[in-house]
Amino acid sequence: MPDKTSIHPQIDETNVPRHIAIIMDGNGRWAKQKGMPRVLGHRSGVKSVREVTQAAAELGVRYLTLYAFSTENWNRPPAEVIALMNLLVDTIKGEIAELNKNGVRLLAIGDIEALPKHTFQALKEGMELTKNNTSINLVLALNYSAKWEILHAARVLAQKAIDGLLQPDEIDEAAFESALTTHGIPDPELLIRTSGETRISNFLLWQIAYAELYFTPVFWPDFGKQELIKAIQNFQNRERRFGKTSEQL
Ligand code: FPP
Repeated sequence: MPDKTSIHPQIDETNVPRHIAIIMDGNGRWAKQKGMPRVLGHRSGVKSVREVTQAAAELGVRYLTLYAFSTENWNRPPAEVIALMNLLVDTIKGEIAELNKNGVRLLAIGDIEALPKHTFQALKEGMELTKNNTSINLVLALNYSAKWEILHAARVLAQKAIDGLLQPDEIDEAAFESALTTHGIPDPELLIRTSGETRISNFLLWQIAYAELYFTPVFWPDFGKQELIKAIQNFQNRERRFGKTSEQL
């Protein structure tokens, strides 16, 4: 049982997920419920990003991956896409000094080079500034979809084979992982989705093979430290068998 000296009284610090991935959903519905425009929901969502990143670092999580913009999100009304891109740039620029001070290392997954120039630039500068930090890795999934990532990896490996650098039978899990945009990042043990939806929506399909899934009805702007603790507690009460029987564990 966790004792008084533990990082949080209700959390077993020996069993905190090393990597938590989150599908931040419900910004629009949160805003609608309050009679506000959707973009204000996204703005409130940034507060949750800040609080959850800080809490995750305090609790000892090493990687936090946030699904900030999917390849499918380009299909939203153009004004919302522009607002989201601007919000991303403003958030990265506005928060980066504080993130850096707190030892956060910013990383990104997805087709980031295809993002609007100002978004890509802000991201690149943020990653460069924080590259030697060691507190928590904040991984933003931007212009990301798992099917895109898997196809991209297949193309990279096919090209290597054509170039004579790789034999088809050398394509094992490690070789495949090395061609994913998440290479070097351990797989998430816990995947959280907010807002009551119980879908994966093309997120980290390869990497969540053994992740525990946690769905909560709470909209993302209302998801803070206490909600994160609840999700971790729920994770800690699960039996992770990886294909074995209970008795073998
Ligand atoms: C989903 O809510 C949310 C998004 C598609 C965008 C998430 C972006 C942020 C929280 C802001 C920027 C983030 C970072 C990391 C700086 P939704 O719009 O799909 O909500 P709905 O399902 O209720 O319509």
